[in-house]
Amino acid sequence: MREWRNRMQISFEEEQQVFHLYNDKISYVIQVEKQRYLKHCYYGKRIKRWHSGIKDYYYDRGFCANPVEEDRKFSLDTQLREFPESGQGDFRSPAYELEDRNGDRNARFFYNNYRILSGKIAPDGLPHVYTDADTEAMTLEITLQDKVRNQRILLYYTIYEDAVVTRFAKWINDGTESIEICRFLSMNMDLPTQEYDVLTLAGAHTEEKNVYRRPLCADSVTIESSRGTSSPQATPFIGLLSPGTTEEQGEVLGVNLIYSGNFYGCVQCGQYGTTRVQLGINPYQFGWQLSPGTSFCTPEAVLVYSANGLAGMSNTFHKLYRTRVCRGWYRDRERPVLLNSWEGMYFEINEKKMLTLAEEAAELGIELLVMDDGWFKRRNTDTTSLGDWTEDKEKFPDGLQSLAKKVKQKGIDFGIWFEPEMISKESDLYREHPDWVIRSPLYEPILSRHQLVLDLSNPAVCEYLIDAVSKVLVPGNISYVKWDMNRHLTDLGSAYLDRKNQNELSHRYVLGLYQVMETLTERFPQVLFESCSSGGGRFDAGMLYYMPQTWTSDNTDALQRVYIQWGTSYFFPAIAMGAHISAAPNHQTHRSLPLKYRIDVAMSGRLGMEIQPRNMTDEEKNLCREAIAAYKEIRPVVQFGELYRLVSPYDGQGVASLLYASEDKSKAVFYWWKLEQFVNRQLPRVRMAGLDAGKQYRIRELNRIDNIPLAFEGKVLSGSFLMSHGLEIPGEHRMDADKMSDYASRILYLEEVNH
Ligand code: GLA
Repeated sequence: MREWRNRMQISFEEEQQVFHLYNDKISYVIQVEKQRYLKHCYYGKRIKRWHSGIKDYYYDRGFCANPVEEDRKFSLDTQLREFPESGQGDFRSPAYELEDRNGDRNARFFYNNYRILSGKIAPDGLPHVYTDADTEAMTLEITLQDKVRNQRILLYYTIYEDAVVTRFAKWINDGTESIEICRFLSMNMDLPTQEYDVLTLAGAHTEEKNVYRRPLCADSVTIESSRGTSSPQATPFIGLLSPGTTEEQGEVLGVNLIYSGNFYGCVQCGQYGTTRVQLGINPYQFGWQLSPGTSFCTPEAVLVYSANGLAGMSNTFHKLYRTRVCRGWYRDRERPVLLNSWEGMYFEINEKKMLTLAEEAAELGIELLVMDDGWFKRRNTDTTSLGDWTEDKEKFPDGLQSLAKKVKQKGIDFGIWFEPEMISKESDLYREHPDWVIRSPLYEPILSRHQLVLDLSNPAVCEYLIDAVSKVLVPGNISYVKWDMNRHLTDLGSAYLDRKNQNELSHRYVLGLYQVMETLTERFPQVLFESCSSGGGRFDAGMLYYMPQTWTSDNTDALQRVYIQWGTSYFFPAIAMGAHISAAPNHQTHRSLPLKYRIDVAMSGRLGMEIQPRNMTDEEKNLCREAIAAYKEIRPVVQFGELYRLVSPYDGQGVASLLYASEDKSKAVFYWWKLEQFVNRQLPRVRMAGLDAGKQYRIRELNRIDNIPLAFEGKVLSGSFLMSHGLEIPGEHRMDADKMSDYASRILYLEEVNH
């Protein structure tokens, strides 16, 4: 047994004034310069020791201010900074800004002292990477101080066993006057090169997490949301890739924010070959009044380093998020296969229909029936009743609890849909509390999906939500909640907050939401919560801390899902990624894809169904039943395994392919989906990854729809062969007919053979 202290360490070298955070895999180095300024020295593969003073050539540059009068070569504008201010000569993007009572925005926070602590320090009231024991992490706290105003900024760096450093900052007002924090990011890092490709994920509703990769030029890439949520349009994630990085090779630095509200991130080139990376709360429409004796914490940023390409980065994120961001009863448990009523029934639900559905679902092997929108009183369209969380007695004469019990008697669990943060204008709640919505006092608030947003900065509103949801969950028959959020914030204004605190609303909304979710998930530890925001509109690590799975997209078209799930997989594990078998033609794209294809795509995430059994033929039901049984067999590998992306749908090769391997590499599941059909086009042979080269694997195809076994069906092949040579997957299912299969797909299950 090795001593735990060896696994991660933080040292301070007095002579060099250097902090070194390290473990077996990584080093993170910061230096105090001129006794005042924090310099970013290094984040990357583990180095034995940092050597300062061997490369720091400083020049007397034009237009550069010199904060140390006698040293014309020293300017903050050319330095590699750790947490830069504004107004002191560093003209790049600052990490923080304040404004005092007199409108002065200048500040001078200088290095003051440090502490090295075992374990983790977490940001107050915010989701974060947690530890199960203090031995899992070490934390460095660095204090910066503005002695003129009597303010402190504490920078927290936590290093873990893996290639991960997390950061957040805390601002403390020790003065006698309030100040306004105008900008306060979670992290800043200046890197000594511009040799990067920048990877970001962006999209729209039903088009989430498209992958964008471009070389960095001498300019900036900005990502942000000002919608009140992390949003489907943008993702608080930045990947910096050394040129030529592939899935398996190259250096990657991935930065992600554990936060569900407005965010801002940038990659900004400096004038002398440097790159600045930042991530944090969006300063747009943000301000925080910090009164004497109070403090403010930023959300936490997660910095993952990989020396083994994008797969290395993704698997580090996956493991961390699955085991140290997700919490509770479901953290280490396989997730049930569910059937959701939405795309089959929409608002047309009632007790009789749900009970029939439960029977049909149980017969297919479904483990959980989810009754989506439409169960509460007068909710027959999306124009009404959000906020009034009482059951509709016309649809459910015996009540919800009785329905839940009857469903359970059929051998499956029961779950329901909520959209707690919202309120319909047409609702009892709005009639009673018109002042509970986010709105300007001057104008009629703008509707979106006919609804308004509740003001979660108001504790009374949060209390109401906790109560309303608890009343439905307390009797204990409901095992699952889909927590939706279907519009963004407009007309920012709160009747609850003082005039001077109005700029705090967007962040206070998120804090209120976190507190509501903390209370409810603690109160109902065995209820499985799934987050949703018209699909993946709030698929972020902040939500994951409370809700261990997310509905990936309202777009259930399997072909488009290949892309959406691909982008999502860069840092979210498959266990968190809801993927459902849908109807044909698809309700969003109106495209008809073979059922097998729809199944094979959904089986690469957390499997469920939107398609209703009553709309299926017996043959289709058989295919689904067998697929669900097969999924239960491969579920541990999919949900707890490591991901290897093999052929990207973006590569234009006509196919996409990925593989999950169990941690011990004794089992793997291989997926292959054809994306388009061109006659006589040779499809690429797929080389696998993540297997053990020395192991032998028996290959079994799952969900086969014809009687013609693949050439390698049942064969035992070595990991080295599968990874170095690979397999050619036939592009058609019915090779005896001259019919091409437009959307062919294959799933292969690989199991180690010991003989
Ligand atoms: C959102 C969700 C859907 C469904 C509807 C119900 O769009 O993403 O899955 O729950 O709301 O109104």
